[in-house]
Amino acid sequence: MAANHIYVLGLETSCDETAAAIVDVPVKNGAPNGAGRILANQVLSQIETHAPYGGVVPELAARAHLSHLDGLIAAALNQADMTLHDMDAIAATAGPGLIGGVLIGLTTGKALALAAQKPFIGVNHLEGHALSARLTEPVGFPYLLLLVSGGHCQLLAVTGLGDYTLLGQTRDDAVGEAYDKAAKLMSLGYPGGPEIEQRARHGNRTAHALPRPLLADNRADENGLPKNCDFSFSGLKTALRQATEKAAPLDDAKVADLAASFEAAVADCLSTQTRRAMQLFRHRLSSADRLNLVVAGGVAANQYLRDALRAAAEAENFALFVPPPGLCTDNAAMIARAGAERFIAGQIDAAPMATPARARWPLSD
Ligand code: KG4
Ligand code: ZN
Repeated sequence: MAANHIYVLGLETSCDETAAAIVDVPVKNGAPNGAGRILANQVLSQIETHAPYGGVVPELAARAHLSHLDGLIAAALNQADMTLHDMDAIAATAGPGLIGGVLIGLTTGKALALAAQKPFIGVNHLEGHALSARLTEPVGFPYLLLLVSGGHCQLLAVTGLGDYTLLGQTRDDAVGEAYDKAAKLMSLGYPGGPEIEQRARHGNRTAHALPRPLLADNRADENGLPKNCDFSFSGLKTALRQATEKAAPLDDAKVADLAASFEAAVADCLSTQTRRAMQLFRHRLSSADRLNLVVAGGVAANQYLRDALRAAAEAENFALFVPPPGLCTDNAAMIARAGAERFIAGQIDAAPMATPARARWPLSD
């Protein structure tokens, strides 16, 4: 590839954010060369549409994507002062996610690619999150990834583009889902994560002794390495429900204590299991060097959890990379970045019109 800059338009419509973005990725010796620039980043949150229902309503989400995506693409091109013809490729989320929404972004991306005669890349939304730290910092492979979003809670060894090995995952709820359910229990708004984080700042982290599921299972293999790097949040949610009922009627101070105690339990679970995965990851690489931990996904926007994970990383001699909050939650810059990296690696969709929309699409397949 001769060009030393790649420009990609990315589209994201898999959940409740409609987004279009353009990135500029520098290329050297056939590989991405550093973070590059985000030339446009348009995100329209549908929070107000779904808030009355306490969660995302798929049909409403799909209709809102349909109404707004075209305008956001025009705004992104305008913001970057570019046209479709300036793009090297077009990328859109092809899954996993709510299928109605995914179909709208994917079909729009294919249509634009066909009309402008550009290569097309159907992107795995989780790969977008997995590479999101590379939008702002030159984080090289390999790294350990903690992916924490509304639908996922996983620890993965990322050894290259498309090279993901699962080291641990939730056995029930995703961590963002746990935040959203916890917020509902305390009659707080949707989404629950930012609301709980804000309430917890005024609370006592030890007011309620909530469980830390799975942490007691510290079984090791013959090399002394942890066997369990999994998560479970459903028992924590049940314990929070009981504590909430006991504390009723709730006032601001009681909600703050409940939120702070819940968040402290989540932080312990995430940092303990991530430390175990860091030990596994280091052993697999046979490395005594300082290694990298990347945290991504909507929950990574949480400052308290970031601080806990930074301490865990330091204890294991890992450097922590977390994207700025606006690039942790769903956005199209990460989809454009993943598309650009696939494009640079020569992995464009051979028959783009046939790229399927997928409700489920595990990253470690
Ligand atoms: O990555 P994301 O935007 O969408 C998915 O792909 O799922 O993640 C959304 C999730 C929601 O569950 C939301 O409550 C959670 O991320 N979240 C947070 C925070 N901001 C968003 N959780 C904890 N603290 C936050 N500050
Ligand atoms: Zn996401």
